[in-house]
Amino acid sequence: MQMNTPDWSAAQKRVEQLDDYIAAKQRAQFGFEELTEQEKAARVRRHFNSVAYKYDMMNTVLSLGIHYLWKKIAITRLALQPGESVLDVCGGTGDLSIMAKKQVGPAGRVVLYDINWEMINAGRIKPTNARTRDAIFYVQGDAEHITFPDGTFDVVMVGFAVRNITHMKRAFREMHRVLKPGGRFLCLEFSKPVWPWFRALYDWYSFHLMPLLGDLMMGERKAYTCLPETIRLFLMPDELAEVLRAAGFARIEYERMTNGIAVAHTGIRRL
Ligand SMILES: C[S@@+](CC[C@H](N)C(=O)[O-])C[C@H]1O[C@@H](n2cnc3c(N)ncnc32)[C@H](O)[C@@H]1O
Repeated sequence: MQMNTPDWSAAQKRVEQLDDYIAAKQRAQFGFEELTEQEKAARVRRHFNSVAYKYDMMNTVLSLGIHYLWKKIAITRLALQPGESVLDVCGGTGDLSIMAKKQVGPAGRVVLYDINWEMINAGRIKPTNARTRDAIFYVQGDAEHITFPDGTFDVVMVGFAVRNITHMKRAFREMHRVLKPGGRFLCLEFSKPVWPWFRALYDWYSFHLMPLLGDLMMGERKAYTCLPETIRLFLMPDELAEVLRAAGFARIEYERMTNGIAVAHTGIRRL
């Protein structure tokens, strides 16, 4: 098996993906490509516009369905109760929102919040879980400026998305702001597998098979090359925990899944 895959970024490079560096350099990265902040936001929008209607199918194929399991495990960490209000930031096609709605029940409220209407709509119109989907509220907006007042939600969650947000720290501060005091938070993201041999396999899969499948199934080789690149630039779990702490969250814990391919961070907003 020929490896020849990009390295995982060094700590300094990962830190340079954060707001302060981006503001200072006025440059942001989407995958390994360097762009202006505005270009990055536009690129992210174009990316999700182009993949929206096949997003769920591609996720299932590329992860062999494991992404549902990660979402299921992660959401149990929130111990959702009937009647609670939940904000699903960057909710996309709604997997986490659906799971949440089933748990908070008719008296609860789930708001799926995403910047991209194509992603929202691709989920909204799917026939599976149609009644649950109909019971979710859909709001289009930017995670960096959440259009809800302070202390609105019992729970805020974000799944597989913060890597794509240009000013991640600002977005976390916003997620913290709209949580009620004592409210719970979940951030689910990709990360670096722990075992070197497994990481080598994952690297090969990410940079060879994944772009090929993206090309064959969607004609989107570039989109599926960018995806593993954004993961290689993302913070390690301890670094992310530190960023969450700085955004105001307390009692931060994280759990690695599938040897660390996915990591679920949880925290609370202090009373
Ligand atoms: C990889 S998808 C994840 C969707 C869903 N959370 C899931 O786990 O399947 C990332 C989502 O983040 C959204 N997004 C990216 N930047 C955003 C921003 N600044 N504000 C709100 N949503 C954003 C995209 O439109 C996309 O739907």
